[in-house]
Amino acid sequence: MTSLLPTLPGAYYTDPAVFAAEQERVFEQMWFCAVRGEDIAAAGRYRTVRVGRESVLVTRNSGGEARAFLNVCRHRGAQLCADEEGAVKRTFRCTYHAWSYDLDGRLVAAPNLVKMPDLDRVEYGLRPVHAREWLGYVWVCLSETPPSFAETVQGACVERLGDLASLERYGIEDLSLGRRIRYDVRANWKLIIENFMECYHCATIHPELVHVLPEFAGGYAAQYYVGHGAEFGPGIEGFTVDGGAGVTTIAGLAQEQDRRYFAVTIRPQVFLNLVPDHVILHRMYPLAPDRTVVECDWLYLPEVVAQGHDLTNSVELFDRVNRQDFEACERCQPAMSSRAYADGGVLVPSEHHIATFHEWLRDRLR
Ligand code: FES
Ligand code: FE
Repeated sequence: MTSLLPTLPGAYYTDPAVFAAEQERVFEQMWFCAVRGEDIAAAGRYRTVRVGRESVLVTRNSGGEARAFLNVCRHRGAQLCADEEGAVKRTFRCTYHAWSYDLDGRLVAAPNLVKMPDLDRVEYGLRPVHAREWLGYVWVCLSETPPSFAETVQGACVERLGDLASLERYGIEDLSLGRRIRYDVRANWKLIIENFMECYHCATIHPELVHVLPEFAGGYAAQYYVGHGAEFGPGIEGFTVDGGAGVTTIAGLAQEQDRRYFAVTIRPQVFLNLVPDHVILHRMYPLAPDRTVVECDWLYLPEVVAQGHDLTNSVELFDRVNRQDFEACERCQPAMSSRAYADGGVLVPSEHHIATFHEWLRDRLR
């Protein structure tokens, strides 16, 4: 077997036609992790997020269920909510001609509505988008016939961790947001995924991470082996920037989950990082071939957040890792359009699993 495999050609990271095809066949077809449930904790709280080429409005109805709609007024097409987040009492009211929709998307009011008896309020309700909550996040799917959530989303976790039970022990849906950082990365979303999948770069660019997880110096990512978590080095007390103690450990973790870091990639836009006292979840929002916004959440036990524990050392470790990673991705992006990369580059053995991501993508774009 060859020790070198090809990467994707450079054009995959720059060509607007490839990006458009990805939006259509990846992000608008698959389950997309849109919003943290606690960001829309109360009925009427909402967030708008970009999913593929669409703006999606995610909110909660009076029954407490997450609801998602295309963020487009059905009258003459004005964008319904212009803000990235906000709250309404009972209805979303379009600022153009004042059509109003309730939290389930039904058209409930419009000026002169009585003079339009033929206006079907259901037909002219907001266009719904499939939504469901898992791990404390609202996942949406723009496809009319979404793929199996169990196979595509939960299946990715099973494939990495060996089973779903080991993920459930972290109780991610019950954790609280301790910190959120938004990174505006000038790089294609695939560079970010590929980087996350490998650890060949860890020894070069992640001194703090390798200090905590010495096996990463060898270049093989934790996710290279099914069910494997990278072990904290001797003398390391917690997953923190200096290896000092972290905060309260999540109760109920198994022995083999203590003092270990597990990583999962959930295609197409989520990275999950599990350590004994917190969970770090990345959501990517690809905005252009060369631009991706990454929203990264640090989640802790509710009492840890409520009691105002100092999370600085805890957050700083992965914040540094993120900045180191994104800087590397940004250094690759301009070179993707170079003649030197027209045929792509190579994957060395510790990166060979990235080829399965490339095959999967090519398959979807075919
Ligand atoms: Fe929204 Fe007219 S476009 S009410
Ligand atoms: Fe990295």
